[in-house]
Amino acid sequence: MYFDKIAFNWDNLSKQERAQALSDRIKEEVNDASKLTALDFGCGTGLIAFNLTDTFNEIYCTDLSKNMLEVLNNKLTESDNEKIKIIEINSLDSEIFAEKFNVVFSSMVFHHIVDIETELKRLYHLLKKDGIIIIIDLDVVDKRFHSDNGDFDGHHGFDRESLADSLKNIGFKNTSYKTVFSGKKKVDNDDINYSLFLIKGEK
Ligand SMILES: C[S@@+](CC[C@H](N)C(=O)[O-])C[C@H]1O[C@@H](n2cnc3c(N)ncnc32)[C@H](O)[C@@H]1O
Repeated sequence: MYFDKIAFNWDNLSKQERAQALSDRIKEEVNDASKLTALDFGCGTGLIAFNLTDTFNEIYCTDLSKNMLEVLNNKLTESDNEKIKIIEINSLDSEIFAEKFNVVFSSMVFHHIVDIETELKRLYHLLKKDGIIIIIDLDVVDKRFHSDNGDFDGHHGFDRESLADSLKNIGFKNTSYKTVFSGKKKVDNDDINYSLFLIKGEK
């Protein structure tokens, strides 16, 4: 898997800076979250979860990539952070996690998921009533954005309105979206511009 190959080099300066900017945007979407339980779906090495440690009561982190979770686990072992907990991705379907979370957030993950409706239904099931989902992802982008990922079979970004419709079809209410980041990625000596949106919905 692509992310297993790059996990140990993921935490570079540009990823850290982007994660900081996105963490700040997520924080703005939750009011007084100090008693709330969150799930970081597709947490990678936990860059965002670490930034939000003081925001939530606890943050469960999960990811498809075992190596991403290993990097996160190593970071947790070296820190005194007791609020972040790792869940194996397959354990998410255990009924103990049904309606457990006040907030599910996910950054730059959904464009890697082919069947997004099935994944959104799964996350809906994990949220408490009135819980919120926050997804940060790519606007439609030049296909070369993913040319360094030979395994890529996902989406070259999303049309925000179509994603909002998918959320509504599953049952999410009060959906809204906004731009939260813009950046450049160097591909074959060209700079590819990209922008990220944050879309939010309530159960
Ligand atoms: C671009 S990285 C983003 C990591 C982190 N959220 C961040 O913003 O720094 C995408 C992450 O999504 C994970 N991922 C891809 N498909 C997934 C799936 N179906 N379920 C859970 N995680 C997935 C990858 O393993 C990878 O860690």
